[in-house]
Amino acid sequence: MILTIANRKGGTGKTTMAVALATRLAADGERVLLVDLDSQANATEALAVQLQPGIFMWLGAEQKPPIVTLESGLNILPGDATTERVNLILSSEGDKAAIHRALKGMKRAYHYIIIDCPPSMSMLTRAAIYAADYVLVPTIPEYLSVAGVRQLVILLAQIRERDDRPVRLLGIQINKYDRRTKEHKANLVDLVRAYGAWGRNGGRVWPPLRQSIAIAVASAEGRPIWELLKGDVLEEWQGLVERVKRHG
Ligand SMILES: Nc1ncnc2c1ncn2[C@@H]1O[C@H](COP(=O)(O)OP(=O)(O)OP(=O)(O)O)[C@@H](O)[C@H]1O
Ligand SMILES: [Mg+2]
Repeated sequence: MILTIANRKGGTGKTTMAVALATRLAADGERVLLVDLDSQANATEALAVQLQPGIFMWLGAEQKPPIVTLESGLNILPGDATTERVNLILSSEGDKAAIHRALKGMKRAYHYIIIDCPPSMSMLTRAAIYAADYVLVPTIPEYLSVAGVRQLVILLAQIRERDDRPVRLLGIQINKYDRRTKEHKANLVDLVRAYGAWGRNGGRVWPPLRQSIAIAVASAEGRPIWELLKGDVLEEWQGLVERVKRHG
């Protein structure tokens, strides 16, 4: 399946989830390709892969995609600042189907193609959603991030209806949740009211992932989160992997 991870709001955990899912699924023996669509190239960096024009070579220069295979078996299409140029090319051509076309022939080679998007509703994000079977929306329980969820859900509906693409909302994954914060609780309640709680009649709001120092430490030290997570936090992140495996 092609799983696109997106929210226009920055810092909601898109890259952390993309990398956590890709590494876990690859460790479980699945064939996984992680596509870094963000010119910040945080996913590429997190996996200690050299920053290089990935999507640019593929879509911008129409060359063979420079896919890097890690020791773990995980495959990554790395990125760098040139990714932004692809965005400009696709925007000027209005080509929202570019990623869909590019990935079509590759879909059979992988169980999971996971796409990490930039924090914007750029053409690249739109093209990644157009290409997706499923979209996962990480959000922090704060106003702007929740507004980003709404915009994405509307965009998904538009792509399904106008473009006749079978893109589905896999889940809304609340992240950095602090249950002692009133605003967090209120936003969780609002999201559940709007999109339903996971496990009930197709509800899409997944159980929250709490704010955790271990995750901040992992990214600061460039270590895989699976090495550092313990106890309840580990269980929450394992739950995320399980929900993706079950397709929601
Ligand atoms: N549950 C969590 N607890 C604590 N820190 C977290 C958690 N999830 C993510 N972070 C940290 O928050 C920061 C932003 O996370 P991440 O880079 O995954 O977000 P992003 O949505 O990809 O950001 P951007 O929009 O810039 O691409 C990182 O430093 C990450 O380690
Ligand atoms: Mg990111």
